[in-house]
Amino acid sequence: MSFDPLHDIPLLRGPVPLTHLVLRHFVRSGDSAVDATCGNGNDTLLLAELVGPTGRVWAFDIQQEAMESTARNLAANGLPDRVTLVAQGHETLAGQVNTPLNAVVFNLGYLPGGDRGIITRPETTGAALEQALGLLAPGGIVALTVYPGHGGGDAERRLAEGWAAKLHAPLFHAWRMGQINVTADAPYVILVQKGA
Ligand SMILES: C[S@@+](CC[C@H](N)C(=O)[O-])C[C@H]1O[C@@H](n2cnc3c(N)ncnc32)[C@H](O)[C@@H]1O
Repeated sequence: MSFDPLHDIPLLRGPVPLTHLVLRHFVRSGDSAVDATCGNGNDTLLLAELVGPTGRVWAFDIQQEAMESTARNLAANGLPDRVTLVAQGHETLAGQVNTPLNAVVFNLGYLPGGDRGIITRPETTGAALEQALGLLAPGGIVALTVYPGHGGGDAERRLAEGWAAKLHAPLFHAWRMGQINVTADAPYVILVQKGA
């Protein structure tokens, strides 16, 4: 088979491929993971693939449209059995999940193709981030994609950066990963790993 650079090299176009690269490295078969903002289910689908048949994924969203979209995405790929869909805010995380988590993924902002008025909010995002930290297994990661460019996005950027910057090293390793040759308000990733 010939090598096709457009399809065989994953392109780091925006924060989602970067987050997926990290998830592919850290999430293993049998793991437990949470998609805190499942939307159209693209991160949920990757997590479901990575945890394998013996792992578990919980996928949260407050919109019925997102639940349906994620369910369709999983069904189309034959993976619905590994995922528990939770039609509630991620601020209820600790009440829904009581197992150590290897990965928790937040993709902030609004549902692509949906109602742009329904966005993640600093108060609920902050509560969910604290709960995610409390559930993280040693070596587990929180991957948070921040979109400062939309209305309300700057408040979430401040919340996310303030939260991550205060975490004590080496109990947690907190990173900010952003593309440098784009506008200053382009989306970027905050990555937190719990020390072993
Ligand atoms: C950027 S989208 C997520 C995209 C998704 N990761 C995907 O692959 O399509 C953000 C999602 O967060 C959801 N959301 C907003 N507030 C929420 C909350 N408190 N808990 C859970 N989800 C929330 C929105 O409904 C929206 O679907």
